[in-house]
Amino acid sequence: MASYLIRHSPRLSGEVEVSAAKNAVLPILAAGLLTEDPLIVRQVPHITDVEMLLQILRDCGAEVSRSGSDVSVCAMQPQSPHHEETMRRLRASILILGPILARTGSACVGLPGGCAIGQRPIDLHMKGLQALGAQVHAVGGMRQLSGRLTGARIYLDLPSVGATENLMMAATLAQGDTTIENAAKEPEVVDLANCLNLMGARIAGAGTGTVTVHGVERLHGAVYHPIPDRVEAGTLLCASAITEGSVLVRGACAEHVRSLLFKLQETGVGIRETPCGIRLSGTAIAPFELRTLAYPGFPTDMQAPMTVVALKCHGQSLLQETVFENRFMHVAELARLGARIRVENNVAMVDGGTELKGGVLKSTDLRAGAAMMLAGLIATGETILQDPSGHIERGYQDLPEKLRSLGADIEKIDDRA
Ligand code: UD1
Repeated sequence: MASYLIRHSPRLSGEVEVSAAKNAVLPILAAGLLTEDPLIVRQVPHITDVEMLLQILRDCGAEVSRSGSDVSVCAMQPQSPHHEETMRRLRASILILGPILARTGSACVGLPGGCAIGQRPIDLHMKGLQALGAQVHAVGGMRQLSGRLTGARIYLDLPSVGATENLMMAATLAQGDTTIENAAKEPEVVDLANCLNLMGARIAGAGTGTVTVHGVERLHGAVYHPIPDRVEAGTLLCASAITEGSVLVRGACAEHVRSLLFKLQETGVGIRETPCGIRLSGTAIAPFELRTLAYPGFPTDMQAPMTVVALKCHGQSLLQETVFENRFMHVAELARLGARIRVENNVAMVDGGTELKGGVLKSTDLRAGAAMMLAGLIATGETILQDPSGHIERGYQDLPEKLRSLGADIEKIDDRA
């Protein structure tokens, strides 16, 4: 069980390097199932979500090896995973479905798990694969799919990131052309399309609402560098904003965090885009309003860290969550430190400017856990953040270490102490 001891921290200052994007790396690794050649992915972060996916890929018959930060996936003869349990532990496990089905003509998978931030159905994945010609049968908690895929026109009711990625991967090996309308436009979708094209796929329009895929006979291996993690970069920028710091997040791509940078600027901090990253200086003072939306709107993954920024601002901020139904779990925990936040329907009303006092918190999900870690930096005295499910390490590589390198007083502690 991971726990963290966080003490009130001085202004953060210095430089910190952002890791590669978890949400880009996971689908790209799953894309390794689409070819019999090795796919080598560079700079793969050491996080448990990646380790879990690699375990699932091995369970699917792929040879997986890691050398430093490079991961190689080689799937000579992919098959459905044997162990349903591993699928449950990771939402992104559903991303193996499209590749296995497209490659072998059949797939049988358990329902995915992941953070409990909402219902997170997979109906759009299933409807899309059915449109491509798959027969779908529910067998207990499993979904059995079969059929030779042929190109089709698909409309997504919601611009789901995962469904867009799964269908894009499946369509690369389908016979004929596929069009995905109302596709997700997230940078991670574009990154996956770039990797697939490098592997021989013919995808156009990724990053727009209409993605077209011209099916090909086979894909081949490649060596790929994924994009930097925009959520990790955003979390580190928020840490600087709440501590009146001056931090350069090296490797961060400003284009990917545009909505966040505008919102942070509204609070009064200075932002400077440099060729090597994004520098934030100054403190967040002015309250703000935001609404989470699909990209290029404000990212739902940054809602919890921005709640902590709102606690620093003088006055009331409003944060509306429109992507997931249950994404305010950090609110009850932050209240333990004295935060004044009221949630009505899908809006959190945050009364900023009140002093937070250290206390004991329990991480509820990945981004909420990171937000609680940030809150500990500005609370007086000591905060203990318990993370029995290891949420933070699922998605952030070395977050406490990175904050500590900027001057934060934070350490991972032995729970028996
Ligand atoms: C991805 C990200 C996650 C981020 C989210 C939204 C990964 C590994 N995770 O998750 O960090 O918070 O995008 O930016 O990339 N939905 C349906 N039916 C479906 C699929 C989705 O109703 O079949 C709904 C979801 O419940 C949610 C919304 O669509 O309300 C968006 O979900 P989606 O974009 O699919 O998120 P993920 O791909 O799971």
